[in-house]
Amino acid sequence: MEGVCRDGMPEAVVALTGASGAQYCVRLIEALVEHKWSVNLIVTSTGAINLDLECGITPRELADREGVNLEDNENLAARAASGSARFDAYVICPASGTTIGKIAAGISDNLATRSALVAMKERRKLIVIPREAPYSTPHLKAMYNLSEWGVVILPASPGFYHSPRDIGDLVDFVVARILDQLDIEHSLGKRWTGEEVGAED
Ligand SMILES: Cc1cc2nc3c(=O)[nH]c(=O)nc-3n(C[C@H](O)[C@H](O)[C@H](O)COP(=O)(O)O)c2cc1C
Repeated sequence: MEGVCRDGMPEAVVALTGASGAQYCVRLIEALVEHKWSVNLIVTSTGAINLDLECGITPRELADREGVNLEDNENLAARAASGSARFDAYVICPASGTTIGKIAAGISDNLATRSALVAMKERRKLIVIPREAPYSTPHLKAMYNLSEWGVVILPASPGFYHSPRDIGDLVDFVVARILDQLDIEHSLGKRWTGEEVGAED
């Protein structure tokens, strides 16, 4: 994928919102940095609670690596709030039902929702990673609409067909699918070969 910002490095906006599954975002950021992407990171206030609860780190600590820039979710004057600032991709990981509902309703009241609506109006790649069980009807309808409008709905639903050994394998399964969507060549997890079923061992 051709980069447009930061000395030709591809650049993503990544929003960590208040759904469970902060580990997916931590791993995604590691993978993006490893693949020489730069990241504009947005963490909502409930996202920060889950990041602490599930990973024991602060947004500042998550952003403490080369190529990651932590944005203030309340700053609607940040670069990501404008369509004139070009980014290669926008990922909401994990995505709360609240953020999904707001985006589907066209509400851009913080940087996480505003950057998503910028992605949609500019017809850029927006990948949304919902995590909820079960889903409410309003959130299902919101996801249906977003999908119809070109947004990739990529649920945090890891497959088990690759015999995961630990949580890291399950996290990697989902992050691998996000990297696939970003056209990033990676070696996270195993790919299905078609020869697994019926194999001797
Ligand atoms: C500990 C905790 C866990 C939560 N888990 C989820 C979840 O898995 N999925 C979800 O859609 N909302 C979840 N929520 C609710 C959202 O955080 C809430 O809807 C919030 O308004 C989201 O705001 P945000 O999208 O701006 O981060 C959780 C809230 C808390 C405090």
